[in-house]
Amino acid sequence: MTPAETDFVWGAATAAYQIEGGTCEDGRGESIWDSFAARPGRIADGSSGEPADDHYHRTRDDVALMRELGLQAYRFSVAWPRVQPEGRGAPNGLGLDFYDRLVDRLLENGIRPFGALYHWDLPRAIQDRGGWAERDTVERFAEFADIVSYRLGDRVRDWITHNEPWVVAHLGHVTGEHAPGLTRPDLYPRVAHHLLLSHGAAVPIVRGNVRGPGRPAQVGITLNLSPIEPASAHDEDERAAIIRDGELNRWYLDALFRGRYPADMLERLPLLEIETGEMERIATPIDFLGVNYYTRQVVEMGPGETPRDARPAGGSTASDGEYTEMGWEVYPRGLYDLLTRLKRDYDPPALYITENGAAFIDEVGPDGAAPDARRVAYLQGHIEEALRARAEGVPLRGYFVWSLLDNWEWAHGYTKRFGIVHVDYATQTRTIKESGYWYQRLIAGEGMTV
Ligand code: FCB
Repeated sequence: MTPAETDFVWGAATAAYQIEGGTCEDGRGESIWDSFAARPGRIADGSSGEPADDHYHRTRDDVALMRELGLQAYRFSVAWPRVQPEGRGAPNGLGLDFYDRLVDRLLENGIRPFGALYHWDLPRAIQDRGGWAERDTVERFAEFADIVSYRLGDRVRDWITHNEPWVVAHLGHVTGEHAPGLTRPDLYPRVAHHLLLSHGAAVPIVRGNVRGPGRPAQVGITLNLSPIEPASAHDEDERAAIIRDGELNRWYLDALFRGRYPADMLERLPLLEIETGEMERIATPIDFLGVNYYTRQVVEMGPGETPRDARPAGGSTASDGEYTEMGWEVYPRGLYDLLTRLKRDYDPPALYITENGAAFIDEVGPDGAAPDARRVAYLQGHIEEALRARAEGVPLRGYFVWSLLDNWEWAHGYTKRFGIVHVDYATQTRTIKESGYWYQRLIAGEGMTV
């Protein structure tokens, strides 16, 4: 069964460390998330990505589940420490074999694989040498990208270099909420710059490794983006919104699509040394932009000309139906605003929503059903807004729900459930939630049309 070659795909996304488990298997090396999770107090429930969804051992069943849902595409990430346990040199064959089998299963089931190269699990050995703050990590990533895309490039044509570089740079190096857990704001510009540079380095390599008959390679990057709104019409809140937009959105978008960082942001950030040719490298043309959208941001000016959230995350609860369990406001209209702004300001050749979804408290009832009406409403509202933007000319080529399975939600451990499939972690039983069945009907064409 060959995946459908339509100009719009419905899919679901996951990330290696959040679902695989098998962290000590087949020669996998240590990741920065293994060491971060082992540090007391870093993860809400003291857990780690072992065993997560034990997907490493349940790939066949999980792909069967995708097929049952009717998924047309699946976005997975490759764990760098499985492929290069020490972050450099000859690949670990067994690690690569795992992804090789996954891809074959997807294709056998008519599901188009989208491979993401970096979804945050850096080999610890690289972090020990300075991680993303060091220029050498750019070369290491290019080598890793080459190994993986060469091995899978005869079958995988759609590639994402990085997932959410802002999260890596900010939560990993400024607030320390994520691995590697540093609170070094001075490192931020360098880390962000190296992430983007490594993206630019990987694009031509991956493109060159995609081969064989079929569609040409499609290589892109995924950003976490949000429309930013001022909390009031006061000048200072408006200014706060411009600054936050610069930090979250324009820093990355301007670099990728215009080959320069926004001037107002360069003024705010400590000196960043940019070498000749680096901005051109970052702006290497991509085939698509991946967008992860969860909510908008409303900001006001805080002390020291620093924007702050006007509605603190977690301030409300899911009980009023407006906020998810992450404390994120449910705001579907923001997706339309974002997509139309991207088209207007950056004109990307194609767009995918590479993540969109919601965490709620879900349980499997005695009747075996897993009702999650609020997630259905969330997905429906956002998909409607995405399709509205598409109908108005935004080149949207697909939508990936976050997430296929309940999984290990980083610093929140197992306490947040984003799946359209429920996972009982004690038994690893999978139960399709109401939202999963809803999505299945949507894909089968009974719901909204594209
Ligand atoms: C995104 C991440 C993804 C998941 C969702 C909820 O920032 O890319 O792994 O954690 O948020």
